Amino acid sequence: MARVTIQNEARTIEVPANANLRKALLDAKAPLYDGVRKILNCHGHGKCASCEILVIAGADQLSPRTPAEHKKLETYDVHSRLACQCSIIGDGEVVVNSLAL
Ligand code: FES
Repeated sequence: MARVTIQNEARTIEVPANANLRKALLDAKAPLYDGVRKILNCHGHGKCASCEILVIAGADQLSPRTPAEHKKLETYDVHSRLACQCSIIGDGEVVVNSLAL
């Protein structure tokens, strides 16, 4: 099991190792998407970038960036990831719905 802290919700969830981060966040009812993005997103195919998160801690506990992330992440900030493209290796801390902040 891995522990993922959702910083802007001040809570921590436990997820199985190698779980998909998008699925884990949605299963935990974390507000990964806002507004129309709740419906209009690519459902985890790495094509819309609406699941962008900020990784506050544990970046090395996520799978490496995928080609979809290299293509879609505008900022290329080392802390930005697409949740749908991340497998969870170990503990970390994220900010969800970072586009709305
Ligand atoms: S859900 Fe569309 S890129 Fe992640």
